[in-house]
Amino acid sequence: MAFFAVFQKTLLLAFLSWRTFQSEVLAEYVSLTPESLKVSTNSTCQCLQLQWSIHELPHHQELKMLFQMEISRVKPSNVIWVGNYSTTVKRDQVLHWSWESELPLECATHFVRIQSRADDAKFPELSIWSNWSSWEEVHVQHSLGPNTLLVFPKNKLVEEGSSITICYISGINHNNITCYLHDKLIYGVQLDSKASAFKLNNVPFIRKSGTNFFCEVNQTDIKSGATFFVSKVLEEPKNFSCETQDFKTLKCTWYPGVDTGLDWNIQPSQSYTLFESFSGKKQNCKHKNSCNWKITQDVQETYNFTLTAANYFRKRSANIIFNLTHRGETRVLTAYCA
Ligand SMILES: *[C@@H]1O[C@H](CO)[C@@H](O)[C@H](O)[C@H]1NC(C)=O
Ligand SMILES: *[C@@H]1O[C@H](CO)[C@@H](O)[C@H](O)[C@H]1NC(C)=O
Ligand SMILES: *[C@@H]1O[C@H](CO)[C@@H](O)[C@H](O)[C@H]1NC(C)=O
Ligand SMILES: *[C@@H]1O[C@H](CO)[C@@H](O)[C@H](O)[C@H]1NC(C)=O
Ligand SMILES: *[C@@H]1O[C@H](CO)[C@@H](O)[C@H](O)[C@H]1NC(C)=O
Ligand SMILES: *[C@@H]1O[C@H](CO)[C@@H](O)[C@H](O)[C@H]1NC(C)=O
Ligand SMILES: *[C@@H]1O[C@H](CO)[C@@H](O)[C@H](O)[C@H]1NC(C)=O
Ligand SMILES: *[C@@H]1O[C@H](CO)[C@@H](O)[C@H](O)[C@H]1NC(C)=O
Repeated sequence: MAFFAVFQKTLLLAFLSWRTFQSEVLAEYVSLTPESLKVSTNSTCQCLQLQWSIHELPHHQELKMLFQMEISRVKPSNVIWVGNYSTTVKRDQVLHWSWESELPLECATHFVRIQSRADDAKFPELSIWSNWSSWEEVHVQHSLGPNTLLVFPKNKLVEEGSSITICYISGINHNNITCYLHDKLIYGVQLDSKASAFKLNNVPFIRKSGTNFFCEVNQTDIKSGATFFVSKVLEEPKNFSCETQDFKTLKCTWYPGVDTGLDWNIQPSQSYTLFESFSGKKQNCKHKNSCNWKITQDVQETYNFTLTAANYFRKRSANIIFNLTHRGETRVLTAYCA
C-alpha cells in the first residue's frame, strides 16, 4: 500500500512538473502580438475593415483570445475609440473585424492598432496582454488641391430621429468656408487644419427628395454639397383582418401607416409579406394595404397569419389566428387581429 501511495505521488509530481514545463515553454516562446494587420475602408458602410493574424499560435492549437482595438483620428495619440473583440483562433487563421465610423472616413486620417491575450481557462499563463501591433494608418483622400472643397457623406440614408455626421475637407482656410443645412447657416467642429464636422442629432424627415447640405468659400464660386436621406420610422400594420365571401379566397387588409419610400430609389416603399404558420406558406403582397390568399382544398381549419412590413431599417409585424369553420356557408367570415 505504502509503495503504491509513493508511486502515485511520484506520478503526480511528474505530471505536475510536465504541466509546468509545458506552460513555461508556451509562455516563453509564444508571442501573441497581432501581426500582418491590414486596414481597408468601405464607403458603403463607412467602415474600417481590419484583418490580421497571430503567427506564433502553438501547433494544432485552438485558443480563445481577447483582442483590444484602439482607433485614433488625425494623429495616433488622439484615441477616439477603444473596444474588445473575443473569438476562438486557429493557427494561421486570418481574423476579420470591422468598425463603423460616425464621421465619413474621407474627412480624416484614422489609425488602428490591436493587442491581444489568451482568454482560455486551459492556458491561464497566456493571459497577459501582448505588445501592441504598430499603428496602421488609413486615409481615403490622398491629395487635396489648394482650391478643393469636398463634402461627405454622399447620399447617406438614416432613420428619422437618429443622428448623422457630415463633414467637409478642404485646402482652404476654415474662416473662409461657410456651410448651410437646408439653407440655414450651420457651425461645425474643426477636426484639423483641413476638415470640419457637423453632428446632427435627432434628424427630422423633411421631404422624400432628401435634405441638402452645402458649403461655399466666401467671395468665390467654389461650392460643394451633399444630400442625405431621412426615412420615416416604419409603423406596425394596423387593423389587420381577413375575410372571405366564397371560401376560395381570403382577402386580408390593413392600414399600412406612413409610406417610407424615398426618391431616386434610395429606399423603395416598405414591402409586405404574409406568412401562414400551419401550412408554412409565404406570399409577397402586391399591394400596400391588401393581399389575397388562396384557400386550398385540403381541410385546413385554423389559420395563423403573420403580416410583416419591412424596409431597409426595420421589420414590423401583426398577427391573427382564426378558424375557418363555416365552410360552405354564405355569410361573410371576418377575423380581426387581437
Ligand atoms: C514586446 O516588445 C519588446 C520591445 O520591442 C520586446 O523586447 C518584447 O520581446 C516584446 N514582447 C513580446 C511578448 O512580443
Ligand atoms: C462593404 O459594406 C457593405 C455593407 O455593410 C457590404 O455589403 C459589402 O460586402 C462590403 N464590401 C466589402 C468589399 O467588404
Ligand atoms: C475590454 O476587456 C478588458 C479585459 O477584460 C476590460 O478590462 C476592459 O474594460 C474592456 N473594455 C471595453 C471597452 O469593453
Ligand atoms: C464668410 O461669410 C459668412 C456669411 O456671410 C460670414 O459670416 C463670415 O464672416 C465670412 N467670412 C469671411 C472670412 O469673410
Ligand atoms: C481667406 O481669408 C483670408 C483672410 O481671413 C484672406 O486673406 C484670403 O485671401 C482668403 N482666401 C480665400 C480663398 O478666400
Ligand atoms: C382600427 O379599428 C378601430 C376599431 O375598429 C378603429 O377605431 C380605428 O380607427 C381603426 N384604425 C384605423 C387606422 O383606421
Ligand atoms: C402563430 O404564428 C406565429 C409566427 O409564426 C408564432 O410565433 C405563434 O406561436 C403561432 N401561434 C400559434 C397558436 O400557433
Ligand atoms: C379553432 O378550433 C379549434 C378546434 O376546433 C379550437 O381548439 C380553437 O380554440 C379554435 N381557435 C380559434 C382562434 O377560434
